[in-house]
Amino acid sequence: MWLRRTVGFHRVNIQGLRRSFQVAAAAAKMAKSRFEYVKAFETEDRLDPKHWIVVALKHRRYDELADTYDLEKPNDKRLVQLFEASARSVMGEFKELVLGYGFGGEFSLAFAKNTTLYRRRAPKLLTNLCSLMASSFVQLWPHHFEGLSLVDPPSFEGAVHLFPDDQSLRDYMTQRQLACHHRNLNNTVLWSLVRECGLAVDEAQGVVRGATSEGDKNEILFSRCNKNYNKEEDVFKKGSIIVRTSTQASVRTPAGSVTQRNQSCLSNLCFDFVKDQFWSEIFVLDQPTKVNAKTNYLKDFEKKAKLLPHSWIVIRIDGKGFHKFSEKHSFAKPNDIRSIELMNRAAKRVMEEFPDIVLSYGQSDEYTFVIDRYSRMLDRCASRNMSSIVSLFGSTYVHNWTEVFDGTPLQYSPAFDARAVLYPNNSCLRDYLSWRQADCHINNMYNTCFWVLVQEGSRSRQEAEGELRGTFSRDKRDILKEFNREYDKEDALYRKGTIMYRDELQNEETEAAQAPGTESCRGSRKISVEHIDMIGDAFWEQRPWILGKERSVRTLEDMDY
Ligand code: GTP
Ligand code: MG
Repeated sequence: MWLRRTVGFHRVNIQGLRRSFQVAAAAAKMAKSRFEYVKAFETEDRLDPKHWIVVALKHRRYDELADTYDLEKPNDKRLVQLFEASARSVMGEFKELVLGYGFGGEFSLAFAKNTTLYRRRAPKLLTNLCSLMASSFVQLWPHHFEGLSLVDPPSFEGAVHLFPDDQSLRDYMTQRQLACHHRNLNNTVLWSLVRECGLAVDEAQGVVRGATSEGDKNEILFSRCNKNYNKEEDVFKKGSIIVRTSTQASVRTPAGSVTQRNQSCLSNLCFDFVKDQFWSEIFVLDQPTKVNAKTNYLKDFEKKAKLLPHSWIVIRIDGKGFHKFSEKHSFAKPNDIRSIELMNRAAKRVMEEFPDIVLSYGQSDEYTFVIDRYSRMLDRCASRNMSSIVSLFGSTYVHNWTEVFDGTPLQYSPAFDARAVLYPNNSCLRDYLSWRQADCHINNMYNTCFWVLVQEGSRSRQEAEGELRGTFSRDKRDILKEFNREYDKEDALYRKGTIMYRDELQNEETEAAQAPGTESCRGSRKISVEHIDMIGDAFWEQRPWILGKERSVRTLEDMDY
């Protein structure tokens, strides 16, 4: 947002902060455009208090990893450790996460029951975790797979579960651990039959399918492969548990005295969730809980909001704490071409992966993705769309870091948040995009002037701020002229941001390819990149295929998402 960013860009004292707010208020008056109303379409989605919030993350291509990287089957220790390390990194950053459990390609992370982080806004919690998990996965990859390059940065699909009591949290964790056990037993039998008995994969699959009980599977392992399942590694059989524990530590104060402080640390443990010990001794719950075999009821606690059919879906992502991130990595001011290049590469990758994204628009640390209004992408499930996009964006950003920021090491993985907003018609969608481009213009003009005054005009930051207070667009242009700079001649990349859209369908591609749910043709279309105005009509008149034609609801099936 403009106001936030203007203040954010300059570190100010309280008086300065007040001043900045006055500047912001004055400029906001100036900047209040007819586009501002689109903010009203954004929703908050706060989660009920005193409930457990569990964010479940799932690698979208987990099953392909073993073949892509020639990993050991059914379990590759390096991959298990990478997942664990990524989850630890997320828990290290988000101190309110108290319990993590994962196996295979999934990890569930539980927040402290009474957390007020981000005031319990579900999309913000979900997407921050999801993108950090994906970017940590990329950053930590070389530590676990030395000499093996990561070819495809991952994306994670996330879901938010809201559990009303301690019993349902325990039941959920137990259910996931049981799923781990079943999956691992099946895979151990399968790959043992292939490796040790020389069966073909489909033959071995047939044997596994035929063994209905656990006893049968254990017996096959024992008699045919001479293997005792109980002797397999615990982390494969029971998954990875990470618990935050709190300890008292003696800390010396600046005055020299010693005080006791609470310090939290993360521990990897091996326990059976089904047994009482974990819940009564390690992760002690307030309410009494017991073993519960019936866990079917848990599915009702997943937040599964569907995005209204026939509305434009906008997913906007924004860097978390990019003010600090840009300082830490010495970004050029006001615009660092390397950061923009990284953002654009990440956005392009997202568009390649999701063919139903018709256009994307980026500026500063934010990117907007517009999903075709008739798309059924990821079942129009809000969480799946937000998490998949934001995580792929974050992981690609980190994956390209070394190449783009040649010589500047990445100090920590950045996180991005995402929100999903619905716009009911083309004109609202255009107003939304105009709002973002106007925001880019206002910020860039202010920041260009500010840094010209500081860098070329030898003003202090406070002086520059004072000089710009209450100025209008024409005043800023005049200031720039004093330094022989003309605003309209500044790079359009900075003034207009970056627009990416798919080229028009070629003649040979049929209308049918545009029907809802068909993505293949769209996905193969070239993506154009522009830095031009999209507030006026010209951009849209010259590219009518981007917004397309209004369709009517022909059959009930059309609405059946
Ligand atoms: P949250 O989004 O609320 O977590 O805060 P934030 O610190 O990310 O700030 P915000 O999103 O409002 O603004 C983005 C910030 O990123 C800007 O204020 C800049 O500090 C920084 N930033 C983004 N792009 C650049 C760049 O190219 N150069 C420099 N120097 N900073 C940039
Ligand atoms: Mg930001």
